[in-house]
Amino acid sequence: MIIHKFESQQALNEVGAGMITALAQMNPHAIIGLATGGTPVGIYEEIVKSYQKGRVSFRNVTTFNLDEYVGLPEDHPESYHSYMRHHLFDHIDIQLNNTNIPNGNASDPSVECGQYDALMEKMGQVDLQILGIGHNGHIGFNEPASELRSGTHLVELKQETREANARFFDSIDQVPTHALTMGVGSILKAKSIMLVVRGADKAKIVKQALTGPITTDCPASLLQTHPHLIVLLDNEAGSEL
Ligand code: F6R
Repeated sequence: MIIHKFESQQALNEVGAGMITALAQMNPHAIIGLATGGTPVGIYEEIVKSYQKGRVSFRNVTTFNLDEYVGLPEDHPESYHSYMRHHLFDHIDIQLNNTNIPNGNASDPSVECGQYDALMEKMGQVDLQILGIGHNGHIGFNEPASELRSGTHLVELKQETREANARFFDSIDQVPTHALTMGVGSILKAKSIMLVVRGADKAKIVKQALTGPITTDCPASLLQTHPHLIVLLDNEAGSEL
């Protein structure tokens, strides 16, 4: 595991974006695993800047997103489909049919999850998976539990996760109760993982995830088992390490 702490958000964003653009430059057919939420926004902004300067192309890159809410129309402003278009896809030359996000409106979620896994399997290993972390240690929407699932599956979101995400909605009642998420097994299959964490409110869970026991009570602790984990932290998130 390699841990980098950054003095400024800008420095963190540039290094995070630099890892992704370098991958696309070296391997134009790279497969990149993407996350949503507040954490990667600044990184996506830097990627867009590099693209606009003509330094990188995503024409042949394939992406797989970690998760999507269940029951939000795809064009709802807070769906992860909208998020990805708004923050990244609409501003770079990626082909939308090379981007993959679970369909949270599928009539049969288990069929959708199976198809998502089959497509990931067919496309081959994700080269770089970007991750954030929840205050309770979730990655993707793999919430703390007595056992974790390997493949993509339907989850019920914990109350604390819905509360954390209520900031993006008018009220907590509007935050969906369920989501489809890649499983921890799928996440760990990536060749490299870049975990990004910002803010003092995440310092405790960062310490627990990276230095505590490996346990399903803290799904992010399983990242300790990954041979190529790079952790990008701001000083606040890294303050307890
Ligand atoms: C998002 C995702 C989640 C978030 C986590 C942190 O696709 O899978 O695990 O990374 O909830 O969210 P933020 O970045 O909003 O603090």
